Amino acid sequence: MTIIYSLVRPLIMTLPPEMAHAMSIGVLKWGLGRPISKPAKYPSLKTNVFGLDFPSPVGLAAGYDKDGEVPDQLLALGFGFTEVGTITPLRQPGNARPRLYRLIEDRAIINRMGFNSRGIENAILNLVHHKKSVGIIGINVGANKDSEDRVGDYVKGIHALHEFADYFVINISSPNTPGLRQLQGRKALGHLLSKCREALNDVDPSRKIPLLVKVAPDLYADDVADIAETVLEYEMDGLIVSNTTVERAAGLKSRWKDQAGGLSGKPLFGPSTEILWRFYRATGGRIPLIGTGGVASGRDAYLKIRAGASLVQLYSALVYQGPGLPAKINRELAKCLQEDGFTSISEVIGFDHRN
Ligand SMILES: Cc1cc2nc3c(=O)[nH]c(=O)nc-3n(C[C@H](O)[C@H](O)[C@H](O)COP(=O)(O)O)c2cc1C
Repeated sequence: MTIIYSLVRPLIMTLPPEMAHAMSIGVLKWGLGRPISKPAKYPSLKTNVFGLDFPSPVGLAAGYDKDGEVPDQLLALGFGFTEVGTITPLRQPGNARPRLYRLIEDRAIINRMGFNSRGIENAILNLVHHKKSVGIIGINVGANKDSEDRVGDYVKGIHALHEFADYFVINISSPNTPGLRQLQGRKALGHLLSKCREALNDVDPSRKIPLLVKVAPDLYADDVADIAETVLEYEMDGLIVSNTTVERAAGLKSRWKDQAGGLSGKPLFGPSTEILWRFYRATGGRIPLIGTGGVASGRDAYLKIRAGASLVQLYSALVYQGPGLPAKINRELAKCLQEDGFTSISEVIGFDHRN
């Protein structure tokens, strides 16, 4: 599959990015990519986090399958889990196009999609086709741009979608919905988390569905401390670190580097891993972290886990390396563990903090 992708990649890169994305979803949906890779087959990669059994710690991040159209097909590529969303209660178009840029020389992406979502009702119509036995799917919920009750929007998502969620993510870190990141402030965050926790207790009193929060990488030390305390206080089950960055690293080469929006991919690896490291310290390893940002190889995944991640996610690297990537990363990650004498992921989580 990797060879086929390397042959068609130059052609794909000539297409407008959103068209290429829509086509890739179509290919997955209609099964034209089959036979696809077997799910992870490495015993050392199997891991239990939030009480869920993951065949691999490497998942697909939110934003690729926003409406839950192809979760089972994505899992079949070898991802250990996939995250659907961000889903907003009502259908909304997102920002005007163009709003997605490939920074090819930098192996990066800038997006200002602005939560384009077909809404909860459409997501339900898609997700009823998902087979629970195929694998783990997280559901990432958000608020409509023009909503007068943003907290209520997250609550609606939890109420409507809990049947399909192996875990939920409260996304407060998209840079493309004005004011959304303000929900990361201590008071606003406490209020939001208590309402979401309440909603989840209503629909899932036995507390089986883990509730996670996804944060931005653009945080000061005080923000990290505040968020860490607040998520522990409100008994969140985990944190995703991180979303895209509004910072622009020095040395970006692409002509698109000054486009507005969130930057992801290779240049995000360093900053997002540093913030992950800080969150591991600030939470004392008491809740699982998902390390997201710039993962493009097994070695990158390994470094995130050593910095404190229990699981990792990627999106941008898939654009550059194609559908063979999850299988390749699983293989490389298993090799990293073996070379350093580890037999399981749990031995590696936060290793760099102990040594
Ligand atoms: C085109 C695009 C759309 C995205 N949409 C979402 C989204 O809807 N919700 C979300 O939580 N993150 C979204 N993200 C952020 C990713 O989930 C991820 O956190 C970020 O891209 C960093 O990972 P990466 O460097 O592997 O891409 C999006 C990223 C990209 C590139």
